[in-house]
Amino acid sequence: MPEPESSVSFPPAFLWGAATSAYQIEGAVREGGRTPSIWDTFSHTPGKTAGGETGDIAVDHYHRFREDVALMAELGLKAYRFSISWPRVQPTGRGPAVQVGLDFYRRLVDELLSAGIKPAITLYHWDLPQELEDAGGWPERDTALRFAEYAQIVGEALGDRVEHWITLNEPWCSAFLGYGSGVHAPGRTEPAASLRAAHHLNLAHGLGTSALRSVMPARNSIAVSLNSSVVRPVSQDPADLAAARTIDDLANGVFHGPMLHGVYPQTLLAATKSVTDWSYVQDGDLRAIHQPLDALGLNYYTPTLVSAADPEAKGPRADGHGSSAHSPWPGADNVAFHQTPGERTEMGWTIDPSGLHELIMRYTREAPGLPLYITENGAAYDDKPDPDGRVHDPERIAYLHGHLSAVRQAITDGADVRGYYLWSLMDNFEWAYGYGKRFGAVYVDYATLERTPKSSALWYGEAARSGTLPPVEGV
Ligand code: FCB
Repeated sequence: MPEPESSVSFPPAFLWGAATSAYQIEGAVREGGRTPSIWDTFSHTPGKTAGGETGDIAVDHYHRFREDVALMAELGLKAYRFSISWPRVQPTGRGPAVQVGLDFYRRLVDELLSAGIKPAITLYHWDLPQELEDAGGWPERDTALRFAEYAQIVGEALGDRVEHWITLNEPWCSAFLGYGSGVHAPGRTEPAASLRAAHHLNLAHGLGTSALRSVMPARNSIAVSLNSSVVRPVSQDPADLAAARTIDDLANGVFHGPMLHGVYPQTLLAATKSVTDWSYVQDGDLRAIHQPLDALGLNYYTPTLVSAADPEAKGPRADGHGSSAHSPWPGADNVAFHQTPGERTEMGWTIDPSGLHELIMRYTREAPGLPLYITENGAAYDDKPDPDGRVHDPERIAYLHGHLSAVRQAITDGADVRGYYLWSLMDNFEWAYGYGKRFGAVYVDYATLERTPKSSALWYGEAARSGTLPPVEGV
């Protein structure tokens, strides 16, 4: 029987997952010997997060992980991407591991495995131990060496039971929002330091990958998750094309250049020369960073639209990551950012699945043979329970349907996409936005911490079970 037109089938081994990160969900920030991370310090600093909200309790996943795993299994999810809290495992960022911290993750992994859910570990999702920031943070080379040590500890502890590993999540945010615009922890606004941070994050990825390989079974897969931007110029005017080139270098080339090709793009070095001389790139660094990878993780939300700046226009930069008087784009004073047309999510991010297709095809060309995973994609909406307690979120279903269809189209067009992790499993602490932005497929009542699957969770679970996108009304 021919398939109905609206159904879109995925390869049988396709991994249908959901993603979270430690600081956004765990809470229990003072338990088990955990010390503050830069996000604890930042969120407790007045004025840094909406309403002064913190991850102190978050959604209390630390105590409720069994319930959360059971819910994922009930929904039909096949994979779960979560991150390890570095200060839970290595409170000072150096030296021996705290067993209580490692045991928490061992129990979580075992719970997932016995529920038939594949764990995927992210080693660094932004929660640097505060002690390492006090010693200089990512702009300092030593932080990369510390990361490699931490990666080895976690690899030794969990490498026997976890196949999927991701070194860093979105190093762009760590470097440029953390040390450039200052809207993320540690909140520094130092353009030169943001580029030093980017280099040392690259080095951390390379050294961390080698450290993992030295202690883990060869069958395990090591990847990195980049928030590779889809940068579009407003016109084909040479000045607009040059602006797009600069932002593409600062968003993408600065990471995938060294990681995938062993070089920083010449155009990036030229665009940033008034900010830094890159003298901290030592002999051998590029070789250390350029490690063979088993997969590449792509996080995608919305495209970025740019033009050459009107030299008269001054003021805060709006680029989708919160606004700050300080730019997260060092050296790019000649670039202006624009709102892409079309419908938007609660974050103000334009919904454009064609960007996801474009991104996948780009990396299919640039990294031939490297399997791809969409390690984050999703949308925030102002979800509220109905009087009957149910949470209906048709906008999120439409968003997921559109983006998963783009993934399916890319597979048809020859891309090797092996899986998709919805951001996020459940509502959680959305960084500087606090709890106001709900990205979850599962609704969390922050007063009771009760979890309720939204209709999108049921829809997505059905897709995961059947390997086919269930039809969506009006699509
Ligand atoms: C990504 C982050 C993730 C979440 C989503 C909305 O940049 O990796 O933690 O905040 O955005």
